[in-house]
This record gives sequence, structure tokens and C-alpha cells, in this order.
Amino acid sequence: MATKKPAKKKPVKVTKAKSTKKAPKKEMVTVFIMGKAHKVPAEATIMGAIEYSGYQIIRGAGCREGFCGACATVYRLPDDYKIYTGLACTTLVEDGMWLSQLPAIPAQRPVYDINKIEANVATFQKLYPEVFRCVACNTCTKACPQDLEVMDYIQAAIRGDIEKVMDLSFDCLSCGMCAIRCPAEIVQYNVGLLARRLYGKYLAKESKQLKKRIKEVKEHKYDKEYQEFIKMKKEGLKKKYYERDIE
Ligand code: SF4
Ligand code: SF4
Ligand code: FES
Repeated sequence: MATKKPAKKKPVKVTKAKSTKKAPKKEMVTVFIMGKAHKVPAEATIMGAIEYSGYQIIRGAGCREGFCGACATVYRLPDDYKIYTGLACTTLVEDGMWLSQLPAIPAQRPVYDINKIEANVATFQKLYPEVFRCVACNTCTKACPQDLEVMDYIQAAIRGDIEKVMDLSFDCLSCGMCAIRCPAEIVQYNVGLLARRLYGKYLAKESKQLKKRIKEVKEHKYDKEYQEFIKMKKEGLKKKYYERDIE
């Protein structure tokens, strides 16, 4: 009786090596920056890859550490129909990535005087009436590089729950990626900003600590320290920044 042969491993196609040395690990990948192919280091961030390819980023970069939201980028990956969003300074490249940066989002931004508006739903109705067109598709949440519950804070704005909007939008970087994906053309980050301003102005409990600190600043308690910071070199500033106390 013939015994079943063990399944053979799929042979790996090897091109004839000139030496016996192990082939070096692939270190470069191809990315398409605004439609043009570039070879870039495999471990580069999108921002690093753009600069490695010879582009100078004038708009679309700020902190370079995932805090300022200036580097919104959209990209696609091979054999994948989806459009992905990410921050250029913290998202790593992938082979075949096709990307474009969005250095500015032309979004609706009404002008208001915080002293002349009220902390209630009528303010959202007046300044951002499009909020009420939300179809609860959750696309904004999926687009958010901060993993914020964006749809939930828009729904909270519709209910006039300013504290909830403030809370859920607190870590927003205003990168704009939720807004460019929203079918109702809502500018979520500006709605969040309005809620945080309203909360700070009308709803937050008075902070004794803040009051004390403002008094100290006005009494010039930190002037000497400010002057030291101003004179400090970049490396010294960096050191201070990373050694700071985080509450
Ligand atoms: S809520 Fe919108 S603007 Fe804010 S970080 Fe998320 S995607 Fe960016
Ligand atoms: S993408 Fe726009 S319409 Fe969809 S849930 Fe977010 S705010 Fe609502
Ligand atoms: S440059 Fe600030 S978040 Fe990317």
C-alpha cells in the first residue's frame, strides 16, 4: 500500500548568489509620494520618507511627535480598496503605500465672541447647524488617529451635553481627518473646541490652583526661569521637556 507522502514545503525561489554570504535583509521599500515612486528606508515614518525623497515640508509639520495635528496624511495600501488616514510623523511607511499629505483642511470656522454666547445646545444650532445632519455613520471615529470617539462627541453636541463633548474631544489634535471623511460635512474638531471653550468659560469649577498660578505669574515669580529657558540651547530644552513632571 502506498503511503501518503508528507506534504512538501513550497520551494523558495532563490536567485543565484554570487557569494555564500547571507543576503542582507530588505531595508528599502517603495512608496508613492503624490503619485511618484520613491525608494525609502523601510523603518521610516511617512514624514521621514517624504524628506528622504527630497521634498521640503514647509506646511504640514509642527511638533514631529504626534501632538500638533499638522501632518494629516491619507494613504492607500496595495490590493486594498480602503483609504487610510494617519499622522505623517508617527505612521510608518509600508511597501507600496500611496500617500498624499493634507497640510491644510479648508474647513468651516465661524467667528464668535465667547463672552456673548451661552453654554447650551442653541449655540451649536446657531454656529454649527450642520452638526444636526450627522447620520451616525461612525466614519469620523474610524478616521481619527487619536482613537477618539468622534461620533459620540458629535452626538453629545446634538444633545447639548457640553461636558461630554469636552471630555471626549479633549485629546483632539485638530488634524482634520474626521472632517474630510464626514458625509455630513461637519467640522468635528471645531465643534469640540467650541465645547471645551464653553466648558472652561461657563461650566468648569473654579480651580484654586490655577488662580494661584496666575497670581504668581502676574507677580513675576517665574520671570527668571523664563529668561533661562529663552537662553537655553535646543538640547537643554529637550532634556527639560522630557524630564518634566506629567500630572
Ligand atoms: S477628532 Fe478629528 S481632528 Fe481631532 S484628532 Fe481625531 S480626526 Fe483629528
Ligand atoms: S462622519 Fe459625520 S455623519 Fe458620520 S458619524 Fe461622524 S459626524 Fe456623523
Ligand atoms: S507634526 Fe505634529 S502631529 Fe505630526
